[in-house]
Amino acid sequence: MDKLIIEGGHSLSGYLKASGAKNSALPILASSLLLEGKLTLSNIPHLKDVTTMIEVLGSMGAHIILDEDMNLEIDTSNLQNQIARYELVKTMRASVLVLGPLLTKFGKAEVALPGGCAIGSRPVNLHLECMKKLGAEVITEGGYIKAKAEKGLKGAEILFETISVTGTENAIMAAVLAEGETLIKNAAREPEVSDLIDCLVSMGADINGKGTKEIIIKGVKELKPTSHQVMPDRIETATYLTAVAMTGGEVTIKNSMPKTLESVLSKLTEAGAEIKLEKDAIHLKMDKDLKPVDISTAPYPLFPTDMQAQFISLNTIANGKSSVVETIFENRFMHVQELIRMGGEISLSGNTAIINGKTNSLHSAPVMATDLRASASLVLAGLVAKGETKIDRIYHIDRGYERIEEKLNALGANIERVNA
Ligand code: UD1
Repeated sequence: MDKLIIEGGHSLSGYLKASGAKNSALPILASSLLLEGKLTLSNIPHLKDVTTMIEVLGSMGAHIILDEDMNLEIDTSNLQNQIARYELVKTMRASVLVLGPLLTKFGKAEVALPGGCAIGSRPVNLHLECMKKLGAEVITEGGYIKAKAEKGLKGAEILFETISVTGTENAIMAAVLAEGETLIKNAAREPEVSDLIDCLVSMGADINGKGTKEIIIKGVKELKPTSHQVMPDRIETATYLTAVAMTGGEVTIKNSMPKTLESVLSKLTEAGAEIKLEKDAIHLKMDKDLKPVDISTAPYPLFPTDMQAQFISLNTIANGKSSVVETIFENRFMHVQELIRMGGEISLSGNTAIINGKTNSLHSAPVMATDLRASASLVLAGLVAKGETKIDRIYHIDRGYERIEEKLNALGANIERVNA
């Protein structure tokens, strides 16, 4: 199994190019099931989760051509089945994104239930309720969601009692080919939802309310081939900016979308970083003592849960007390025990982590990655820890960060991937 060995204590400087967004690529890949003909995509990140979604589509009979630059052509016109198998779904919950497109296009879908997850129970009830609202019959049987809508789906009003990113995306994709109008209330406003909407609109979908809590979709008969460039990954960008805030140094991240990162950038500024924005680049300089920052996660545009773990790492080395509150997921503090093993002074009380930060408090230790963003927080801790940090189970990192050691080493880090 691959491990990362990180020699701490190097400041980071230079240029990086952000990769395409994982959370945008996944629903957009699933949307290829909706159209007649080819969907051509660029800026697809080379990540395990993306490969899994490609495999899910391939296992149904989609025809996929991928070049070495990860430009992708996908054609689902000759699909042989509408089944997302457990072997694939169990490794990636977001496979449930094929449910809406399959159901609306083919009138049937079988998608394995994702099962447990390291960051809480993460149910799919909201996805199922949406499909029922749109007129589908949905049962769960033998570990599978089995849904059908023999006469097609019908537009409806869908109110999300909890804001769900992939739930909103599934509802939108189901509604674009449903008969009549669908109104989605309390929709997720994440930029990745907007990126999916842009792609669907360029296929000919009729969608209004992009970026707001109310999305109105008028069903159309069919969607046409198109090409789309996936937006940059704001969480990857924010993770590297946080790394530089922790190590000190100066970095420019190109191919990024500053306006999608306002909440994180304002916290990095509060922590002492100097930030300058260009249209599609972010420049961060850190040459002061880090200040601790209080965080509370919430749906976009507020502070993303996907950056919570990285900010706990940052706070462990910022002199003073801080609190980090997780409001989106239960049990998303698995990294805390590992950071404590590296010398972090952190205590947990319900959904709040209280951090007693001290400059230079972290030292190396063998640690274990438990989920994607938790792993990123351990990499950041390793970059500033005294000595050599060994991180095990880094397949979690490869699900969401493209060539993480290559990108950080290009900035001056010393990270080695070993297979042991
Ligand atoms: C997406 C992101 C993930 C991010 C999360 C929150 C993708 C592929 N993943 O995950 O990186 O951390 O948004 O920003 O885009 N919930 C239910 N029932 C459901 C669905 C969700 O109760 O059917 C709850 C979840 O347990 C959680 C909350 O809703 O407490 C929000 O989760 P959701 O937005 O659905 O997360 P994902 O879309 O899975």
